[in-house]
Amino acid sequence: MVWEPGMQEIPMSLSKTGRIKSITVKRVGPDTSRLHELSIGDEIRVRGPYGRGYDIREGVEYLVVGGGVGTASVLPAIKETGADTVIGARSERDIILKDRVMKYARGIWFSTDDGSFGFRGNAVQLMRERLSEKRYGCVLACGPEIMLYHLHSACVELGLDCQLSLERHMKCGAGLCGCCVMDGQRVCRDGPVFTRDQVSAMRDFGASKRDECGRAVSLR
Ligand SMILES: Cc1cc2nc3c(=O)[nH]c(=O)nc-3n(C[C@H](O)[C@H](O)[C@H](O)COP(=O)(O)OP(=O)(O)OC[C@H]3O[C@@H](n4cnc5c(N)ncnc54)[C@H](O)[C@@H]3O)c2cc1C
Ligand code: FES
Repeated sequence: MVWEPGMQEIPMSLSKTGRIKSITVKRVGPDTSRLHELSIGDEIRVRGPYGRGYDIREGVEYLVVGGGVGTASVLPAIKETGADTVIGARSERDIILKDRVMKYARGIWFSTDDGSFGFRGNAVQLMRERLSEKRYGCVLACGPEIMLYHLHSACVELGLDCQLSLERHMKCGAGLCGCCVMDGQRVCRDGPVFTRDQVSAMRDFGASKRDECGRAVSLR
């Protein structure tokens, strides 16, 4: 959980782990804009880390899929596993951390919705192409919920394991307030990474989320 005086605390993934850590922030509203205004040498406040990351095991062939700013969250997993990776973005200028992904991934495939770079289409279509050419043991993914929804459906259909990093509105970030709950699971503490079968049991997944006041917002 990241904050600065004058802004709300917001959840962020680590895009680099180890002694020196980093976060990668997409400007979408007031709090992320505030972080974008910081200069080199400025300080930020950090609480955490909380929750569960990807469960990475020896001997499993992983395929990593990152969509949009979700690429930042899968980067440490790409570095740790060196796994084949699919990155999806709206267009070429929306692809982030390209050099670092290319440095760590064994094989790398890009998709853009407008066809400006790599495969024309979305990350799940491209993932299906990869899966038809090579056998993987598990997919690790982070990205917009619509992408994760179709990715999860594909994995269920193909009988392939996956671990998905989900996003819900967070306040405490530590399992206390309940505002990030999805069918009995706290995204901040029990997740944000969930297994294929855990996600299958979440009726809200791909269907609705709660805003900062707890109101249900349809995702369809
Ligand atoms: C586990 C997790 C990891 C994340 N990692 C990253 C990351 O690495 N990089 C990145 O750029 N973004 C990440 N996000 C999303 C980031 O937290 C939101 O973009 C940010 O909170 C938006 O705040 P804002 O005030 O700028 O925008 P707002 O205008 O307040 O909101 C814009 C959008 O962000 C969502 N949002 C706002 N506040 C929160 C909150 N407290 N918790 C969750 N969602 C919120 C809103 O629902 C809305 O859809 C992550 C979110 C989660 C849950
Ligand atoms: S944000 Fe409070 S329980 Fe998850």
